[in-house]
Amino acid sequence: MKTIIFLNNKGGVGKTASVTTIAHMLAERYGKRVLLIDLDPQMNATCMFSEIDFVKLFAKVYHGESGCEEGKSVEDLLLDRNLDIHKCIKKTKYPNLDIICSYLTLSEAEERMKGDVKSPQQFRLKKHLKNVQNEYDYCIIDSSPSVSIVNINGLAAADQVYLPLRCDGGSLLGIAITMNLVHTVQEYNPDLQIGGMFFTQWNGRKNVAKTVYELLADAFGEYILPVNVGTSKNIEEGSLLQEPLLAYDNGKHPCTVTREYLEITEYIMEH
Ligand SMILES: Nc1ncnc2c1ncn2[C@@H]1O[C@H](COP(=O)(O)OP(=O)(O)OP(=O)(O)O)[C@@H](O)[C@H]1O
Ligand SMILES: [Mg+2]
Repeated sequence: MKTIIFLNNKGGVGKTASVTTIAHMLAERYGKRVLLIDLDPQMNATCMFSEIDFVKLFAKVYHGESGCEEGKSVEDLLLDRNLDIHKCIKKTKYPNLDIICSYLTLSEAEERMKGDVKSPQQFRLKKHLKNVQNEYDYCIIDSSPSVSIVNINGLAAADQVYLPLRCDGGSLLGIAITMNLVHTVQEYNPDLQIGGMFFTQWNGRKNVAKTVYELLADAFGEYILPVNVGTSKNIEEGSLLQEPLLAYDNGKHPCTVTREYLEITEYIMEH
């Protein structure tokens, strides 16, 4: 099993859009056995693939209820060293794609993790993933926009990190912060490689795109992927209807962004 995390400290750069699209493509288009792990308390990837009714969840949270469903989540996994990871894995409606969900309370669990000083904080996920090494081809991890012990667990467990970004100053700064974090984690996870960086909602005709691209290329040219992802309303519509891009697109007449994500998925499989 190859473990890949998508990370950028800046919010809204397309981490979840990339994770949900690519994990689903690996499973449905390329027949890979995929375990998706949601490390973000925002639950965006969880909503895409679990049976949670997004509209009901919205109403529950609005009325101050917990939003938690039955069953174990990634929070239980991070807090309990002895838990069997299989108890946290849920099937999705896509046969090759399983998920470990997150819940809104994951950020509170983070404080409890920090309080437990008996075992190394950053290797909890890695230790659990050893028990499913032979059951999946890929483990794809979605992360939150933060430098947190939860994200550090994701990095410590990963073989590769991909960094999506948008064409703005905040995304560039996010890349710099994330790269610093990656280099720190590489000190104790030497297997961690930088898979690459790619732009989302890319529009090469804008002057700002050229400027940001040049700045990124000066600092990290060797990591920039040969393909970027444009803008598609299908991604936003699909997230509301809980359908990943390829399924929403129906595969028959793939939109440009679907084709670009297929290229990135193939790049990931080849590298
Ligand atoms: N290629 C795209 N075309 C159009 N909309 C997109 C595209 N990629 C992402 N979006 C939209 O941009 C918003 C942010 O994307 P996304 O949630 O994937 O970012 P994120 O990095 O996961 O954010 P966060 O850091 O908050 O988790 C979402 O509304 C998503 O639907
Ligand atoms: Mg996200």
